[in-house]
Amino acid sequence: MSRNKTSKFEANRRATNIIQAGKPLFEGIKGKWRESFFKNPNPIIVELGCGRGEYSVGLAQLDQEKNYIGVDIKGDRIYRGSQEAISLGLKNVGFLRTKIHDIENFFEEGEIDGVWITFPDPRPKKRDIRRRITNPRFLEIYWKLCKPGSQFHLKTDNSGFFDYSLEVLQNYDIGDMVITRDLYNSEYLKEHHGITTKYEKIWTEKGSKIHYLRFKMI
Ligand SMILES: C[S@@+](CC[C@H](N)C(=O)[O-])C[C@H]1O[C@@H](n2cnc3c(N)ncnc32)[C@H](O)[C@@H]1O
Repeated sequence: MSRNKTSKFEANRRATNIIQAGKPLFEGIKGKWRESFFKNPNPIIVELGCGRGEYSVGLAQLDQEKNYIGVDIKGDRIYRGSQEAISLGLKNVGFLRTKIHDIENFFEEGEIDGVWITFPDPRPKKRDIRRRITNPRFLEIYWKLCKPGSQFHLKTDNSGFFDYSLEVLQNYDIGDMVITRDLYNSEYLKEHHGITTKYEKIWTEKGSKIHYLRFKMI
């Protein structure tokens, strides 16, 4: 491992805003995020596959009445969001280093109040369909862990992934769906508060249109 990565991982071990294997709360946080981590009763929004956690940190800054948790398996990406949150003095944002399909080990049914997914790996190969994070095996978990009425947001450059997600979602009980295949030229842009993720920058610079959907989970 490079020296740079080693020092990031060391910082992650010390950071109180990261829960990961080896830290005491990793085993006992399920159902206790408000009580043991945030120490407030506010709603919890999770950003799945958060990378550097731009949405978790950006939204936490804008709305201190909600708690945000960025989830990702890659420690060197979470490091960026964690350090940014520390330097901004944000107490309403945390990071969980785990695989998304394991989040049932970390959240109780109904503990989550909203989901953001930004620029997920599109996994275009047929043999990888089960690994797409809007595959039913993932959606079943989100539905179980989210309170009824939770808002679900998905932002992607990838029309194949977007179409796949729309198709799968037809089998779920959802309300108030909004869809745009060109977020930057839509009425929904202002709801994004100018937050741009790393992958969003990469794809918009290449000329891709940003697709966005949101709905209520019923
Ligand atoms: C293309 S990146 C997007 C990162 C960020 N959301 C952005 O827009 O810049 C996808 C992220 O999802 C994470 N990821 C993909 N599949 C995952 C899984 N099953 N569990 C946890 N993280 C996952 C990757 O580690 C990566 O950071």
